Amino acid sequence: MIRLVLCLFYFGFNVALAVQAPCIELNDGNKIPSLALGTGRGTAKESDSLDDVRKAVLWAIEAGYRHIDTAAVYGDEEQVGQGIADAIAKGIVTRDQVFVTTKLWNDKHARDKVVPALRESLSRLGLDYIDLFLIHFPVATKDDGSYENIDYLETWNGMEEARYLGLARSIGVSNFNASQIDRIVANSPVRPAVNEIEVNPTLTQEPLVYHCLSLGIAVMSYSPFGFLVSRDRPDAPPPRYDDPTLAALAAKYGKTPGQIVLRYLIERGLIPIPKSTNQKRIAENINVFDFQLTREEIASISRFNANTRVIDISHWKDHPYYPHQS
Ligand SMILES: NC(=O)c1ccc[n+]([C@@H]2O[C@H](COP(=O)([O-])OP(=O)(O)OC[C@H]3O[C@@H](n4cnc5c(N)ncnc54)[C@H](OP(=O)(O)O)[C@@H]3O)[C@@H](O)[C@H]2O)c1
Ligand SMILES: *[C@@H]1O[C@H](CO)[C@@H](O)[C@H](O)[C@H]1NC(C)=O
Repeated sequence: MIRLVLCLFYFGFNVALAVQAPCIELNDGNKIPSLALGTGRGTAKESDSLDDVRKAVLWAIEAGYRHIDTAAVYGDEEQVGQGIADAIAKGIVTRDQVFVTTKLWNDKHARDKVVPALRESLSRLGLDYIDLFLIHFPVATKDDGSYENIDYLETWNGMEEARYLGLARSIGVSNFNASQIDRIVANSPVRPAVNEIEVNPTLTQEPLVYHCLSLGIAVMSYSPFGFLVSRDRPDAPPPRYDDPTLAALAAKYGKTPGQIVLRYLIERGLIPIPKSTNQKRIAENINVFDFQLTREEIASISRFNANTRVIDISHWKDHPYYPHQS
């Protein structure tokens, strides 16, 4: 009897805290949860340990996340896999209820390296398939980081093979520009399901987002908080966390400025990837499905656009497939 009550309490407790993100249908028919936990550790704060990632993934699934974003280059696929395994062992989810995204690094762009690289990722993750496999950047490099002139169309053929083999349920790209997307669409029978790019209030990306969505390509938005959080760039344009526009919206809806920005991205049809290793902020970041911004409020956030990036890849600017203008 006591045991039953405790179980009921535990179950009720979970239901009360967990918030689920609705899914978006991809152009290949698969469904993707519209918010993901980010696990890349290098962009804002360097001090997280790998064990923090394992805990963050478990906390995220407990809080209702069903989508985790990782990459071979993050060096944390093993910990992501352990966090998922912990959640499965606790009976919170089954494998098929969690959507996992990982990415191919730049030194594995040769067609015959793509499938072996994915097999290595899967082995580190402890999974037998990945839900979404992305080309991390259009730029190919050698092991030592020097440029390699491999056409991403060749890499895309390797991605198609990964999908054909059932190792990746969906395939896509990251950091590709509009003409690079068009070139894949024109040359391949398989369209990318996703383009994962930086989108936040200082880099609103309306043209590229519109281009992808009108081709049926879903857009995942990385570094969703932009310069709201510290990037050690005091010169960066607003908004900061205490910005008056965001503060007014936060007060109106009883949310935090971070939640306002995530909701802004969701209402633009994007899939934000907030990274946190803090249990409270992990829960906060998915608690954005019970309110709605007005069109004017969305426009007021878009007006912050300064075309300023958090993620600077200008060290690759001379590469033939460098995706940005500057
Ligand atoms: N495809 C690509 O090329 C690419 C590039 C960059 C990033 N990504 C992906 O996108 C994810 C997110 O990007 P990101 O890590 O650059 O930036 P982000 O998610 O915009 O910001 C992360 C920072 O915000 C803090 N934070 C999280 N939630 C918060 C909240 N509610 N209030 C205040 N601060 C909060 C985090 O600290 P705490 O952890 O202490 O909460 C961390 O310092 C990455 O982890 C990675 O998965 C992909
Ligand atoms: C897109 O990338 C290509 C390189 O593949 C580059 O030549 C082109 O200028 C880029 N387009 C934009 C709009 O940045």
